[in-house]
Amino acid sequence: CGIVGYIGNKKTENILLDGLKELEYRGYDSAGIALLNNDKIEVFKALGKLKNLEQKVKTNHTYHLGIGHTRWATHGKPTELNAHPHLGEYSYVVHNGIIENYKELKEELQAAGHKFVSQTDTEVIVHLFEFYNNKLNDCKTSFQNTIKRLEGAFSILLISKSCPNDIYFFKHGSPLIIARGNEKEEVLFASSDAPLIGLANEVVYLEDGCGGVASAKRIEFFDEKRIFWGVLPTSKQFAQKDGYRFFMEKEIHEQCVVTSDTMLGRMCDEKVDFEEFDSSIIEGIEEIKICACGTSFHAGLTASYLFERLAKVRCSVEIASEFRYKEPLLNKNTLFIVISQSGETADTLEALKMANKEGLKSIVVCNVDNSSMTRIANYSVLTRAGIEKGVASTKAFSTQTVVLWMMALYFAQYKNSLSIEEMNSELKALREVPKSLKVHDSTHEKTKRLSKRYLHGHGFFFIGRDVFYPLALEGALKLKEISYLHAEGYPAGEMKHGPIALADPELFTIALMPQNLLYDKIKSNVEELSARDSTICAISPLDFDLADDYIKTNKYDHYMLEFFEMLVVLQLFSMEISVRLGNDVDMPRNLAKSVTVE
Ligand code: G6P
Repeated sequence: CGIVGYIGNKKTENILLDGLKELEYRGYDSAGIALLNNDKIEVFKALGKLKNLEQKVKTNHTYHLGIGHTRWATHGKPTELNAHPHLGEYSYVVHNGIIENYKELKEELQAAGHKFVSQTDTEVIVHLFEFYNNKLNDCKTSFQNTIKRLEGAFSILLISKSCPNDIYFFKHGSPLIIARGNEKEEVLFASSDAPLIGLANEVVYLEDGCGGVASAKRIEFFDEKRIFWGVLPTSKQFAQKDGYRFFMEKEIHEQCVVTSDTMLGRMCDEKVDFEEFDSSIIEGIEEIKICACGTSFHAGLTASYLFERLAKVRCSVEIASEFRYKEPLLNKNTLFIVISQSGETADTLEALKMANKEGLKSIVVCNVDNSSMTRIANYSVLTRAGIEKGVASTKAFSTQTVVLWMMALYFAQYKNSLSIEEMNSELKALREVPKSLKVHDSTHEKTKRLSKRYLHGHGFFFIGRDVFYPLALEGALKLKEISYLHAEGYPAGEMKHGPIALADPELFTIALMPQNLLYDKIKSNVEELSARDSTICAISPLDFDLADDYIKTNKYDHYMLEFFEMLVVLQLFSMEISVRLGNDVDMPRNLAKSVTVE
């Protein structure tokens, strides 16, 4: 979900809509804005993409204050009634996060005569505010009382006819930024910095538990001591598709450049170096634990092979939402690594907090500076992928994998676990990553042609071994996310222990068959499937007669280069299937770019 707010003399509805456009990729079930001018409030809401809202917003009045929201449904279906802003009798609220105790609060408020119209947790906020304000006739105290009663994660903007010049704000759990606009007497809010760039440069990335009230003339914080004004980046490198059909397509093409940026300054002559930490980070470390969600989890799983193989450090990987509640036994000699494109994913953030609380050294591998995770991890290593807009993550994954591979080599240097020749061959391979990520027109054409054949059937298996197993998981996830077809990633050697029972011509197997890693092993696994008539699409540099289809990749002398080239093939393949099915590639149904709820 995304939040924006504005106080100032520009056309408020336009500023809000433009801001929401920058945030739309974070959630797009519905969107809405509320505009306030003294005792006049107008609200517009629409289901689906933002353009539906844009068409609806028509007003003859001038407003100098408003709030807006783009939603990814958590409580309550995506309907217009459930879209934000939510209304009480005379106030509106927008909210990111989840109010965990909303049921109790709702019952209490209903008993006090408040009428609810939506099924959302958010609506309790505005009623609770009015419940207090009806008694006290004091917006500030009422807002503070409201906040005290809420449990869960919540970033909030609230406006009310009873204090028509003000926006009340509070941040807890989900991100919220307040900015002084470039014009006089202008204040802006947003849940990430993209909507603010160009309009403001003085900002506060609010910390948890911080809030206040803003008017054109004055911003008052409830707890001034925790407020630090900073400067907003000025570059507007986001937003444009640069002639590509989709952001996803553009981001696939960008991988060769951004992985190279990610390595810049971190690879010198014969070694890897990170300015973010020194070798003391690994002193006394007996094992590494990685926590992440979604695509970032797949980068973590890939890295676990590399940490053990190259640095000879024990490494385990866990899905953050599982880790949180398993009452994990944490050992002080564990280095805790979280991986997150956004730095905001609620489960990963919580896992990081748990590790910090236990006194573990923590590192976040992240694409967004100033995100919640980079602010609390002991060390942050930034991937330099640039803003990723396609909901199906592409360049974030390749840059994360590069950073983690470099970290494995950094630890290997410290532990002397590789010979000079081995280290040199790793470094040589790393330098060739950008080349292996280049999109070749012939491969793209081939995936386009093949996509036609793979639209129907009863499902996909993506199979691979070693690091090609997490790659298979990632290939299957990409396909699921944007094509809505059922796909599963599987370790190739496990197929015979159950899944092979599904094999028939309508079962599509995408086989990752690198030349440099366990080729013969995977070959026999694929032969077993082919003997049971499964339709096989082999991705390999080596000819494979039994395949029904074959995507030929280049030959390299390191398996990780094959890994990256195959990654591009898988990304293009799911994108082309999604296109053929007429789906929205950049904003697939039911998903959100950044999931700031549990
Ligand atoms: C969401 C996105 C996924 C992403 C996951 C983790 O579910 O749709 O593409 O991989 O969150 O996000 P993070 O920002 O923590 O990497």
